[in-house]
Amino acid sequence: MNMQRILDDIAAEMAAEIDRGKVADYIPQLAHVNPNQFGIAVATPDGQVYAAGDADTLFSIQSISKVFTLTIALGKLGDALWTHVGREPSGDPFNSIMILESESGRPRNPFINAGAIAVVDAIMMGHEPKEILAEILRFVHFIADDDSIRFDHKVAASEMAHKDRNAALAHFMKAFGRLEHDVDKVLGTYFHQCSIAMTCQQLAHAGLFLVSNGMNEHTGVRVINAERARRINSLMMMCGHYDGSGEFAYLVGLPGKSGVGGGILTIAPGKGAIAVWSPGLDHVGNSKLGLKALQRLVEKTGWSVFST
Ligand code: DON
Repeated sequence: MNMQRILDDIAAEMAAEIDRGKVADYIPQLAHVNPNQFGIAVATPDGQVYAAGDADTLFSIQSISKVFTLTIALGKLGDALWTHVGREPSGDPFNSIMILESESGRPRNPFINAGAIAVVDAIMMGHEPKEILAEILRFVHFIADDDSIRFDHKVAASEMAHKDRNAALAHFMKAFGRLEHDVDKVLGTYFHQCSIAMTCQQLAHAGLFLVSNGMNEHTGVRVINAERARRINSLMMMCGHYDGSGEFAYLVGLPGKSGVGGGILTIAPGKGAIAVWSPGLDHVGNSKLGLKALQRLVEKTGWSVFST
């Protein structure tokens, strides 16, 4: 299999696409991003990184960061995390408040906004936001083996200035006694986590530990144990694309996590981590060309968790 050729072909096909979706504009700082960009990178356990298109351009990873905070939270709390958040798909939009009321403020899963806010609150454990943010960034540096990765403070400030929806979720959970810390501190931490800027190449690298049973084979360092890696992958499969998760599983057949910046991190266990980015989103908030490109990739490689 010639992976470089596959990626070059996909990038060429995506460059010709007319309907590129709609860039997220509810975070004003993201509304300025040029929708004509597309990048893809694949990192494989043997140490190779293949890339095509705008794979070296920084973008806002947004909800993809929820995979990293979930990993940190499981490391800190273990199974006790599941008292804060569930692990069922919601079938609702990422920012929905509906199920929170009927389920006493306990979010369905760690990947919807309410769930990710509950996860951040859980890992704060009395620490100041600054300390937690430093820990999150250290973890991302560690898994990506790249200390140059940074928060985009402009994006975080833009989200804070338009926080009403997430603030509603957080206050609602707090009213049910589900959040321990001050809502603005939790939100400030959450928005910074979402603002992390990465390239497709960095993101593919960061996903490698989920490809090889918790081990980053590039660096030879174990990040988490095999059981935990398997479970994070299953959460990504069931909940990684919100109300588009079923469609993603059907069309791509791999665990993945999307973000409203237009990125998707996808894990092909034993094979590679795929990061794809194109800023235009579909009707459920997932990258339109990202999904299309991943469909092409799995057609061409045969990668799937549902077949051998
Ligand atoms: O809280 C938000 O709305 C954003 N920071 C993250 C949402 C997101 O990325 C949903 N993904 N598709």
